[in-house]
Amino acid sequence: MLEVEGLAKRYGDVLALRDLTVKVDQGECLVLLGRNGAGKTTALRCMAGVLLPSAGMVRVDGIDAADDPAGVRALVGLMPEVPGLYERMSARSYLDHFGAIYDLSPELRGRRIEDLLELFELSDAGDRWLGTYSKGMRQKVALIRATLHHPRLVLADEPTSALDPDSARRAWIYLKDLQKEGCALVICTHSMEEAEHLAGDIGIMSNGRALAVGNVVELRRRSGLKTRQEVRELPTLQDIYLAIVDNQRMDQRELAETRTA
Ligand SMILES: Nc1ncnc2c1ncn2[C@@H]1O[C@H](COP(=O)(O)OP(=O)(O)OP(=O)(O)O)[C@@H](O)[C@H]1O
Ligand SMILES: [Mg+2]
Repeated sequence: MLEVEGLAKRYGDVLALRDLTVKVDQGECLVLLGRNGAGKTTALRCMAGVLLPSAGMVRVDGIDAADDPAGVRALVGLMPEVPGLYERMSARSYLDHFGAIYDLSPELRGRRIEDLLELFELSDAGDRWLGTYSKGMRQKVALIRATLHHPRLVLADEPTSALDPDSARRAWIYLKDLQKEGCALVICTHSMEEAEHLAGDIGIMSNGRALAVGNVVELRRRSGLKTRQEVRELPTLQDIYLAIVDNQRMDQRELAETRTA
């Protein structure tokens, strides 16, 4: 469903993303983890066809984003890091507006909007202006908007960062259900719990690079961590993540020392 090869993005002097190659099949979920400024949002926006890459290729369902960016955007539901909502519109009108843009019939979108407002406990607030919504409520509306039309590929940037634990769990179940319907997902997150719930493959990013991409078992092998002897447990995803990021830091330090020696 999504093929990315050698993707790179430069903002002036900043090389925000370099040589990213990943693939996400139908019904699969790729989770991108990484430090602040690692390039996750940049990667996601290039995949969505809203940011022009400096190099590399993005193909969604066989359509090349460079040849047909509008065709790619039609297949994708992007949930941005900061939801830009229309402040003077109610959630119901806002979602209905996008449902119409997505070409859903009035009956179909009406039903789906009510179902999703109920799922995310927004039915009662649905007629209030979005400008009066809390941070978490806004994030829920952004998630509903991105997925209203059952896109083939959902790209969600920290989709539950503002949600309470109960709502986050609902969002994970909802995203899992979309996967079961055949939707492919790419999620950026700082939450290890979210990654554990959703991920097939996980990409760990730093300084614009993917340090490692694979499922938890592959990443554990890659991290070099063995079973934690003192508790006889397998290392957690957080242990693995920190080990891979720390290994890279040490490699960089050694490289710098070799250069100055
Ligand atoms: N519009 C822009 N102009 C210039 N530099 C940018 C722009 N957007 C992002 N960058 C830079 O690109 C790099 C990657 O940013 P990006 O937003 O992709 O990181 P991120 O991994 O999503 O970080 P976070 O975890 O904080 O959301 C950073 O160095 C950032 O300063
Ligand atoms: Mg980001």
